[in-house]
Amino acid sequence: MTNSRQAKVEISFTVNDEAKKVWAYPMERLLDVLRGELGLTGAKEGCGEGECGSCSVLMDGALVNSCLVPVLQAAGSSIVTIEGVAEGDSLHALQETFLEYGGAQCGICTPGMILAAFHLLNEKPEPTTDEIREGLSGNLCRCTGYSQIVEAVAEASRRRTA
Ligand code: FES
Ligand code: FES
Repeated sequence: MTNSRQAKVEISFTVNDEAKKVWAYPMERLLDVLRGELGLTGAKEGCGEGECGSCSVLMDGALVNSCLVPVLQAAGSSIVTIEGVAEGDSLHALQETFLEYGGAQCGICTPGMILAAFHLLNEKPEPTTDEIREGLSGNLCRCTGYSQIVEAVAEASRRRTA
């Protein structure tokens, strides 16, 4: 007998401004659907438990850990992943400054960090250093010691508000 909890369902949402439909189990993690069904491998799995932020994406403008979001919860929403942050052929200022300031080293945390910083600058275009640290507090980095990341976000803010 088929267990209805295990039946795949059609789920529609928007990803990086493109309408998408997927067949997925309702409780599948949004992270797995993005990476597997949709081939958007920018969001990374670190802890898989909502602790590290490496899987961060925006869902209807809110920063979420996609490893904790059942895909059914994303139905009808608008999602932004790191693949949607660049502006056409140009890198977003955050992508440029992370490269220039050494904010991206091994790169595992980088997509999530940039999404968290993107969210922060949307909410607060000219954050203080403390506000940057607070805005990125859900994202862990083992490589940089955070200073380069904070400097990269501050510089991106300056460039975007100049
Ligand atoms: S993999 Fe999602 S928070 Fe760590
Ligand atoms: S650059 Fe390696 S974990 Fe952040």
